[in-house]
Amino acid sequence: MKIGVFDSGVGGLTVLKALRERYPEVDFVYLGDTARVPYGNRSPQTVIRYSLECVEFLMGEGVELVVVACNTASSYALEVLEETLPVPVFGVVEPGVKCALKTTKNKKVGVVGTRATVSSGAYKRLLEKEGAEVFQKACPLFVPLVEEGLIEGEIPKRVVAYYLEDLKESGIDTLILGCTHYPLLKPLIEDFMGPQVKVIDSAQSTALEIEAHVLREGSASFELYFTDESPSLGFLIELLLGEPAEYKRVSLPCKV
Ligand code: DGL
Repeated sequence: MKIGVFDSGVGGLTVLKALRERYPEVDFVYLGDTARVPYGNRSPQTVIRYSLECVEFLMGEGVELVVVACNTASSYALEVLEETLPVPVFGVVEPGVKCALKTTKNKKVGVVGTRATVSSGAYKRLLEKEGAEVFQKACPLFVPLVEEGLIEGEIPKRVVAYYLEDLKESGIDTLILGCTHYPLLKPLIEDFMGPQVKVIDSAQSTALEIEAHVLREGSASFELYFTDESPSLGFLIELLLGEPAEYKRVSLPCKV
């Protein structure tokens, strides 16, 4: 089986990593729209258009299931993608919410993400529907920190404290990492929030969510495509995927 995964850039490699760990025999095609990242401060219409172009490429590669690894794209474009695609499509928002609802005891749940994800209210709506009280916070500096490889030490520690101070006071017992890059800051976030707050990583929950649709067969291959390459791309692939990997450059819409 071939599964397509796309993200606004490299961050979705954290989702690809979780998917490969869970389904090692399956084939994956990953597209990172590095030429147009970040999606996190674009309008809904633009995020939808970009997402449609990403899946058009993946469908051309013959994928049989699509995972929208980007939280921003999942927040704004999932419905349109579900209507448009002839194959099953999954975002990262719902799996994260489900996992948070299973985890929380006091029904006070925090959500951190990009400005776009937070203002879309996608997480908030789903959580509130199930009676949870939601505390959201946009953390725009987390993405550039990870992209600089600053995932430990004094600087990210201070930024984590700066953004999460209010959430720590809010009484939440569960925090959803609603952005592809944030799992790399998870140790610092857990450390800051303390043992009473469980930190949910959407990547793991998404891998679990698609289980019923995955045919566990294939040649265990994975191909990476990016719409642009920066000098740090190789470094970021290794950081986010946990291993170095070859990649190809692609232009959207769909001219390899
Ligand atoms: N992939 C995006 C997300 O998960 C973060 C980076 C961006 O803003 O494009 O929301």
